[in-house]
Amino acid sequence: MKIIIINGPNLNLLGKREPEIYGYQSFETYLKKLKKEFASHHIDYYQTNHEGSIIDKMQDADNQYDAIVLNPAAYTHTSIAIADCIKAIDTPVVEVHISDINKREAFRKHSYIKDIVAHSITGQGLDGYAMAIKWLLKNELNS
Ligand code: DQA
Repeated sequence: MKIIIINGPNLNLLGKREPEIYGYQSFETYLKKLKKEFASHHIDYYQTNHEGSIIDKMQDADNQYDAIVLNPAAYTHTSIAIADCIKAIDTPVVEVHISDINKREAFRKHSYIKDIVAHSITGQGLDGYAMAIKWLLKNELNS
């Protein structure tokens, strides 16, 4: 399976950013482990702090990848444009949040993409990315 992980704003600061919420590990360190765990699959990674760049990347990834694992970070709670993009493309998207957005501030409880993604994983730490890939392998390969 060919998968791209797309991370939104401030997720380049994992390890340093609010570690009590997001953990002490950088995404680069975690990604090495993830690639080993799913060595027979192709995993690309892209991070940007810009909303339009997330959309550009998802449009480029459409039909080039079997799936997109997306953590839009704060844009989850604000971006109709990212939600529209997910509706417009064919490639399935799994939403991942490292923290449990349902147990934090009220403004984090609303996800514009929750109802249109193939699946959502919230509050599992960085493991949520591995869980997203496992879900895809179980569900999308057979579809
Ligand atoms: C996040 C949760 C968002 O509310 C927050 O803005 C982020 C990260 C998460 O992975 O838990 O930047 O998407």
